[in-house]
Amino acid sequence: MREIRPDIVFNVAECANGISREAQIPAMLDMLDIPYTGSDPLTLTTCLDKSRAKEVLAYNGVPTSKFLYAENIDDLDNFNLTFPVMMKPIAEGSSKGIFNSSYVTDLTTLQERLTECLEIYNQPFLIEEYLPGREFTVALLGNDKNVEVLPIVEINFHELPKDLIPIYSYEAKWVADTRDNPLNIFTCPAKLDAELENKIKDVALRTYKVLRCKDWSRIDIRLDKNGEPNIIEINPLPGILPNPVDNSCFPKAARANGLTYEEMINKVLFTALKRHNLL
Ligand SMILES: Nc1ncnc2c1ncn2[C@@H]1O[C@H](COP(=O)(O)OP(=O)(O)OP(=O)(O)O)[C@@H](O)[C@H]1O
Ligand SMILES: [Mg+2]
Repeated sequence: MREIRPDIVFNVAECANGISREAQIPAMLDMLDIPYTGSDPLTLTTCLDKSRAKEVLAYNGVPTSKFLYAENIDDLDNFNLTFPVMMKPIAEGSSKGIFNSSYVTDLTTLQERLTECLEIYNQPFLIEEYLPGREFTVALLGNDKNVEVLPIVEINFHELPKDLIPIYSYEAKWVADTRDNPLNIFTCPAKLDAELENKIKDVALRTYKVLRCKDWSRIDIRLDKNGEPNIIEINPLPGILPNPVDNSCFPKAARANGLTYEEMINKVLFTALKRHNLL
């Protein structure tokens, strides 16, 4: 990078090691004073650690379900959540470590599963209250006062095989939905009344702001038992598989907004160039 000195880097590097993995390339580029697209190391690491991201949201009054951070089994001594709960590895994506069995309804099962999973995944777990309502994912593009919310994507769980619970789990994403047997699992734009649509947009924009996202992000949202949108997680490096069959949600939302894949990529790039005063 020092030799090439590009004008800007289009960053999609997730890397592999440690909680800093998504921040490593941006931190190196900051060190070399080379601009890049997307969020900075602090935002990337905070969002990768789902518990830290939820702390920032809770402090800022953005709705997110109650949770517990567990790095060993003794952390369940402080358990005061209401079942059912979801348990998830603290810093993964693409539903890695999120199965039907991550939905847990009693303390004995939680103790058993947590013991197993801490061993398998070798990282802390987030345990959080289950949100029973509809699920959406929201793609955002822009900075400061010019953040655009792309058409909202809804995930239709009734398309899943009946033995799967209504979550976008590993089984749902990678076993039930394949290239040979694609599930019609998304609606975009989601069918929403104006009030709910505004609430979802508002909560997504507040999240983008308080996490200090740059240029683009995709935010997962689910309704609680009162029908209020809650944040599940923030993806400042959203998946962007180009083939529509692969069901990447950021490109799907962009397509619903009339953008081709190339136009979407260029829009992210130009948003970043503008932020860096390179236009
Ligand atoms: N608190 C919750 N209540 C209900 N469902 C949840 C909750 N947390 C996660 N889920 C379900 O599990 C799915 C995966 O969770 P999450 O988005 O945290 O994982 P991920 O692997 O980071 O996802 P991505 O593929 O978007 O990176 C969600 O889309 C949702 O269906
Ligand atoms: Mg997600």
